[in-house]
Amino acid sequence: MADQAFVTLTTNDSYAKGALVLGSSLKQHRTTRRLAVLTTPQVSDSMRKVLETVFDEVILVDVLDSGDSAHLTLLERPELGVTLTKLHCWSLTQYSKCVFMDADTLVLANIDDLFEREELSAAPDPGWPDCFNSGVFVYRPSVETYGQLLRVAAEQGSFDGGDQGLLNMFFSSWATTDIRKHLPFIYNLSSISIYSYLPAFKAFGANAKVVHFLGRIKPWSYTYNPETKSVQSEPQDPTMVHPEFLSLWWDIFTTSVFPLLQQFGLATDPHSHLTVEDVSGAMSHLALGETPAPAQPSVSSEERKERWEQGQADYMGADSFDNIKRKLDTYLQ
Ligand code: UDP
Ligand code: GLC
Ligand code: MN
Repeated sequence: MADQAFVTLTTNDSYAKGALVLGSSLKQHRTTRRLAVLTTPQVSDSMRKVLETVFDEVILVDVLDSGDSAHLTLLERPELGVTLTKLHCWSLTQYSKCVFMDADTLVLANIDDLFEREELSAAPDPGWPDCFNSGVFVYRPSVETYGQLLRVAAEQGSFDGGDQGLLNMFFSSWATTDIRKHLPFIYNLSSISIYSYLPAFKAFGANAKVVHFLGRIKPWSYTYNPETKSVQSEPQDPTMVHPEFLSLWWDIFTTSVFPLLQQFGLATDPHSHLTVEDVSGAMSHLALGETPAPAQPSVSSEERKERWEQGQADYMGADSFDNIKRKLDTYLQ
């Protein structure tokens, strides 16, 4: 399927970590489509080289920034003006059909079936379900559509200051015309919805195919405080990342991405990276309801952290993906 691709975007080396975990998770679930990432000049050369080891195409584009501080303040996300850069995805006419995915999404199962859908298919936004969330959407690259979108961006701007407001204005019939363009919510499960309707998450969460770490706090932005042995996150932040999914993200990061960053000299300070054990340790701190307490490691957490920092994490044992997955499955039963 060389003419179809998953596409993501990063304008800096932080979101690039998310893009690398997303790309790795798509490959883990054996997608047959190509992987492309839009990057802007601010992404470092070393990080670009790392992206080239995971993505089939690493495409350099200019930043499109709404600079719309009024609307972005309303959204409480001043940093999202650059998301208009996402519009460049319509310029990828080497592909007939693409699925765009935010760099803060994580694939839990094969989702190649999305390519059976038409433009513009997307899942409802948890905050206002008559709008779609533009973190996952099916579209057809087209020079004509690309030009129209850029013109709307220049002439009308976006009601949220980012790409989602503009795309909902442009594809304004999404809410009322064709239910086939409504992706099931499990294709774009955002942590906000988990907390706002926990019984539904308990009932259907196990079918989730894509997790979307929507909100200000991203998996890669967590810092780990060795003194208090917990992951620092603003407890009052409703978009606090779900601990089990956070742990899954960090498992892919530590096993598939961190070694690449080390290879290209981008991960010199291991302390700036959480180990899976730190995250699972933190899960008991952040756990919801009856999350099982993480299995006590046979070696001390300090010792495991040291082993991990020497690149000897117990990926086949306590840190293994299966252990993390089992923890997640137990929680979701
Ligand atoms: N993005 C980026 N650089 C930024 C902010 C956003 O590359 O500084 C891209 C990235 O792909 C990200 C998407 O735009 O996933 C949307 O931003 P974000 O996911 O933070 O918005 P949210 O889903 O939390 O509303
Ligand atoms: C939404 C989407 C994100 C988009 C942002 C700004 O929250 O999750 O993909 O970039 O709004 O429009
Ligand atoms: Mn997002």
